[in-house]
Amino acid sequence: QTYQVAVLVGSLRKKSFNRMLAKSIAQMAQPALSLNIVEIGDMPFYNEELEEDVPAAWQRVREAVGAADAVLFVSPEYNRSVPAVLKNAVDVLSRPYGKGALGGKPAAVVTSSPGAIGGFGANHHLRQSIVGLGVMVMGAPETYIGNIGTAFDEQGNLINPSTREFLEKFTVAFQEWIALTAAR
Ligand code: FNR
Repeated sequence: QTYQVAVLVGSLRKKSFNRMLAKSIAQMAQPALSLNIVEIGDMPFYNEELEEDVPAAWQRVREAVGAADAVLFVSPEYNRSVPAVLKNAVDVLSRPYGKGALGGKPAAVVTSSPGAIGGFGANHHLRQSIVGLGVMVMGAPETYIGNIGTAFDEQGNLINPSTREFLEKFTVAFQEWIALTAAR
């Protein structure tokens, strides 16, 4: 059985290391997991008034995440917290109240940084938000990838062997976590 995983990336830039990371994990995860990035950059900022006539981008993201078996967050850290674009996605996915697309989904949080701390602050701020939504977020292995700036070649291939080894372990653990917690 292949589980469908919606991937939310917390960076919008084309050469994002986190996007490269998401793609590397997607390759490693096959065939047990089918990971697909759900683009979140075109969603209007959350405003309750918009629920009366839901923006198309909100609807698209809500449906894509709602249809997935699990969610993977892959994000940089901005000012020791979650980038606004990703927090906005969580906010949109948390509503309508009690009917949000994230509730009850297995999930994992991966953060990375060119620095040494690997986005620890963003990782835990994000966990704080999603736990309250009933997201079943994997506790371990904790995944804070430091020094991400030297982990890829020009083509976006993951060339750091220890990062690869770690991510392979993470991917197996996530697969097991989904099998344990997915509602089916
Ligand atoms: C950063 N960066 C950063 N890095 C970090 O480790 N901790 C932090 O708090 C911040 N804060 C921060 C704020 C803002 C506004 C920017 C633009 C950047 C650096 C960040 O990790 C780096 O730019 C990454 O390369 C961003 O991830 P992507 O775009 O490569 O996926």
